[in-house]
Amino acid sequence: MAKVRDNIQKMTPYNPPLEGRASHGYLMLDFNEMTTETSPRVKQALHEFVDSKRVQMYPEYGNLNEVIAEYAGCKSEEILVTNGSDQGIDVVMRAFVEKGDRVVIPSPSFAMEYQSALVQGAEIIKPEYKGSDLAFPLDEVLELLDSSPKLLVLCNPNNPTGGDIAMEDVRRILEKAKEKGVAVLHDEAYFEFSGITAIDFVKDFDNLCITRTLSKQFGLASVRAGYVISQAQNIQELMKIRGPYDVNMFAATAIRAALLDVEYSRSYIQEVMRQAKPMLEEFFQKHNIPFYKSTANFLLIRPDNPEKVLRILQEQGILVRPRRDVPGTLRVSVGTIKNVERFMTAYSKAL
Ligand SMILES: Cc1ncc(COP(=O)(O)O)c(C=O)c1O
Repeated sequence: MAKVRDNIQKMTPYNPPLEGRASHGYLMLDFNEMTTETSPRVKQALHEFVDSKRVQMYPEYGNLNEVIAEYAGCKSEEILVTNGSDQGIDVVMRAFVEKGDRVVIPSPSFAMEYQSALVQGAEIIKPEYKGSDLAFPLDEVLELLDSSPKLLVLCNPNNPTGGDIAMEDVRRILEKAKEKGVAVLHDEAYFEFSGITAIDFVKDFDNLCITRTLSKQFGLASVRAGYVISQAQNIQELMKIRGPYDVNMFAATAIRAALLDVEYSRSYIQEVMRQAKPMLEEFFQKHNIPFYKSTANFLLIRPDNPEKVLRILQEQGILVRPRRDVPGTLRVSVGTIKNVERFMTAYSKAL
């Protein structure tokens, strides 16, 4: 009988609780998505694509790489468009890691980083975010580089903790990793919210691959749109792994339209980060509900009674995400001011 590889059999599937969310009309603060609709220009472009008589054709991307490169501020040869940043993570993992290799993932972190490493049959080493502030374990990570793992994942800011790694620390890590021949995946899924990016290091570090997404800040989670930034010779290699049509034309069309309407997403980000998030932090402070410092569009909170809070919020039509990897916590996405006001009213019933 044909046998699936042992390492795959040992894995458990990543089954995030996605079903039934939309049909119940919830306020969805559980997946760090945009809580409003995507840009009208994106919707119009998608309608036009459906009517273009091109749905039956294989994709034709035109200058999509140039459009993304111009937005990101790099060269088009340094871009690989991907089917969500999940695929970016996977492609990088497949390029650098084989069975038995060690991969360092400071933990807890984003589930797909583990999944991709496990599919490769990697041994995952998990230095832990520690202490009352769940700080990035810098010394441990630097030390682990001595044992020459194949790849190190830096999720910056980290999901689910929300904290970031200072850029001077990222540089130190990259320098040592380069010396030891370790590839570094810098996951920038929350770049537009945090402003944190390692893009300036790309020219000096051939061991650096950055993954980004358009899921969150551009409201494109459903079409699956992301990209990798790395030196051109790395991108050439990654292109051998990604299929030629893995990015479908709905995604390509939406990316192009979203990047022509950056203002739409900027005003959403400003509302979330400059107004709604401080309101939410003030609410948690006022009610002595501990939360971790976050540079992203979500907060990891530690209520006395997370199960009760979860239930009461859900009864009032609001979803947040219990984080079993940080016991006793809930991750709350920050949306608009209106969303936060509704959240605070609902949460008050759990106080
Ligand atoms: C840290 C991190 N990386 C990557 C992703 C995946 O993004 P995408 O929707 O582009 O696959 C997420 C989504 O939650 C994330 O939190």
